Amino acid sequence: MGIASNIHPLWYFTVFRDPPVHGYKNGGMLLYHSDFRTTLSFNNMNLNILTDKRILLGITGGIAAYKSAELVRRLREQGAQVRVVMTSAATEFITPLTLQVVSGQRVHTELLDSEAEAAMGHIELARWAEVILIAPATADFLAKLAYGHANDLLSTICLATVAPIIVAPAMNRQMWQAKSTQANYMRLQNWGIHCLGPAAGLQACGETGVGRMLEPMELVNGLINLFKPGPLAGVKVLITAGPTREDIDPVRFISNRSSGKMGYAVAVAAQAAGAAVTLVSGPVSLTAPVGVPVISVYNAQDMFEAVMAQVDEMDIFIAAAAVADYRPVQLATHKLKKQESQLQLMLERTPDILAAVAALPQPPFTVGFAAETNNLLDYARDKLQRKKLDMIATNQVGITGLGFDSDENALSVCWVDGSVELPRNSKLSLAYQLIEIITQRYQRRAKF
Ligand code: CTP
Repeated sequence: MGIASNIHPLWYFTVFRDPPVHGYKNGGMLLYHSDFRTTLSFNNMNLNILTDKRILLGITGGIAAYKSAELVRRLREQGAQVRVVMTSAATEFITPLTLQVVSGQRVHTELLDSEAEAAMGHIELARWAEVILIAPATADFLAKLAYGHANDLLSTICLATVAPIIVAPAMNRQMWQAKSTQANYMRLQNWGIHCLGPAAGLQACGETGVGRMLEPMELVNGLINLFKPGPLAGVKVLITAGPTREDIDPVRFISNRSSGKMGYAVAVAAQAAGAAVTLVSGPVSLTAPVGVPVISVYNAQDMFEAVMAQVDEMDIFIAAAAVADYRPVQLATHKLKKQESQLQLMLERTPDILAAVAALPQPPFTVGFAAETNNLLDYARDKLQRKKLDMIATNQVGITGLGFDSDENALSVCWVDGSVELPRNSKLSLAYQLIEIITQRYQRRAKF
């Protein structure tokens, strides 16, 4: 899996928008971190990055498929090896013969193709690819990817590969804004699938809005960025996420409402910045990003042991888990029967994982999370100093739709001589912003 750890997925290209369930407050897309056109103008400095890279181009059935021939030519100009897989709908928009001529390779269209199986069937293509670019990616194909369908050659290859997958959505603006499309898009991003675009502008249907596929050179530049080392390349990041469960008896436990979404989003963002990420996760119903090992734990003690076993190796530790502060002193071996009208449980403190890491003789760059209902910055500063942290990210709890078990959050991030407010946004967007701040502070600390 060489490239997955070296690549720099879309640090300059990730496009954020508010999740559809809450409307589109910002009125559409914004390019985050950097204007990719800056990258375009420096394109001649990027020569060779795609040389000999094995790129599998998946074309699905949208009008933007007519741009695919130029895309193949531009990729080959960069020295890339390109193989093309088309869905049957794509062949209505552009012929396989055209793509065969520009790619210099047989174009693959059928899942069950005896000729292809003898030479290069879906498993071989899945193994051959160093990266899979799906351009254009229709709403239907995003849905297929989001739900793991494998009913044509391209979707089957996507399931069978370990290569990073990039989608370049292209569709009518209403289709792009549809709640189902946005939910699928969020789902894919949370898995570490990368998106290039879509852009805003005049659409083939005559409407104007967000939904156009990026131009071929913009897609080429997106891939170039993907293969460049990210700002956290070579940096090892350990992240805790989710709740812990402290057993009372064989059927009951103490826990909290943490879903793990923030910690998993931070893992996606850290990986996107090029870091080698390890997640230590309490019980959640989330899927970790591809390429991120997960150590699953149950209670605070398990999490403490898992973290301590890993942390010596780590450069950055981010404690996003909502660890139970207390656990029952005694675990009942049999289910407790109800008896009196009141029941007293004796609780004891769990080990403070964050404080233990920060107190190590040579601690990694240590970032804590906190949840407060009031006086956010005062409490955060106090915790920063008491636990000797490098940074703390505090979220305000007690506001409907924010924090625990929701898709959105707002953070106050502070460190010894500064702070920044990250206003309400999706957890994934906040995670990218947080990782950018952590990267800056980490690099500054590394210099001293
Ligand atoms: N944490 C931890 N181990 C614990 C408890 C908490 O690592 N046993 C970490 C959490 O992952 C989080 C931070 O510590 O990063 C939260 O600190 P904490 O002092 O528990 O803050 P609050 O939960 O906000 O609680 P309080 O205000 O009661 O101190």
